[in-house]
Amino acid sequence: MKYAKIIGVGHYVPDNVVTNHDLVKMMDTSDEWIQERSGIIERRWIKEPYEQSTAHMGFEAAKMAIQRAGITNDEIELIVFATLSSDYYFPGPGVKIQQLLGIGNVGAIDVRAQCSGFIYAISVADQFVRTGMYKTVLVVGSETHSIGLDKTTRGRTTAVLFGDGAGAVVLRASETPGVGILSTHLHSQGEHAEKLFLKAPGTGRDGIIYPGIEQDVDNIYPVMDGQFVFKNAVVRMEEAVKEALNANGYKVSDLDMVLAHQANLRISQFVQRKLGLPDDKMYSNIQKYGNTTSATLPILMSELWEQGKITEGKLYALVAFGSGFTWASALIKW
Ligand code: ACO
Repeated sequence: MKYAKIIGVGHYVPDNVVTNHDLVKMMDTSDEWIQERSGIIERRWIKEPYEQSTAHMGFEAAKMAIQRAGITNDEIELIVFATLSSDYYFPGPGVKIQQLLGIGNVGAIDVRAQCSGFIYAISVADQFVRTGMYKTVLVVGSETHSIGLDKTTRGRTTAVLFGDGAGAVVLRASETPGVGILSTHLHSQGEHAEKLFLKAPGTGRDGIIYPGIEQDVDNIYPVMDGQFVFKNAVVRMEEAVKEALNANGYKVSDLDMVLAHQANLRISQFVQRKLGLPDDKMYSNIQKYGNTTSATLPILMSELWEQGKITEGKLYALVAFGSGFTWASALIKW
């Protein structure tokens, strides 16, 4: 059987830094509240005149991943793109990045699994590599949250948490057993869809299936029951890491690092404590970027790789939880 090995990782964030102090000028909030509740100090938001988009940031991250992989664009046989903030409602950004990379008419799949999107996307890519259908697959996670947030006091619970950015990896088939993506586990629980969601624009309209949806200002920004999401996130993320380890016959102590989705520093710290991991086995960059949803894990991975903290032969668990609810884990031997 073939394994999908990550041979290149890259990321891109917009230059425009928005600090907590900048947010104080837009809404009733404070640096202390945001840092204490979430750990976030600043985030990147694209700004006018818009030179970036979800697809374009994904393209920048992909260029870096491809260059670090030492391959050419035309070696890519499939694109898998995770986002909740597509440039267009349809088509998704997978096709735009295919155009921007100037590669042939390869398939482009868009994945919508919110904060779990990147793990869902590498899981999709992994299946194609394992079966031998494709040898080289580009996986991208990119988000433009800033244009879809309510930046007034009414939206402060969510607006302060989210940032823009992109990350990408190149997966390549390897014949070496036990190296690469060892497993992925995906979960969802639609009964909690409305605990963190964006009602409209969507195609659901007031009627029998979705009573009460109206196209007014209360429906065009994300709505979140933060405490409920928090409580579920810490349980599911611990479960998902253990599920990945059990499936492969490993223990928590075998892990070199857990790369956890960056939704809230307190969530990561909680999961770290529950798993009993020392500080050098769980890194956070939410302080700089906020929650970049499906871009979070590849940005974190790319930064850790640059710092020499991701190296051959080591064992990494990726874990995420988010809107849907969706949650997922991946175990990777680098
Ligand atoms: N600034 C100042 N005060 C605020 C702000 C703000 N930005 N936002 C809310 N408050 C106020 C509230 O109005 C409330 O005031 P009240 O007590 O007078 O009613 C008070 O602060 C406490 O609000 P809570 O919502 O109870 O605060 P909490 O400690 O739960 O923190 C937070 C909120 C940060 C959102 C937290 O619940 C959280 O991180 N939840 C999980 C988020 C998450 O994981 N999302 C999943 C990924 S996202 C995805 O999938 C797209």
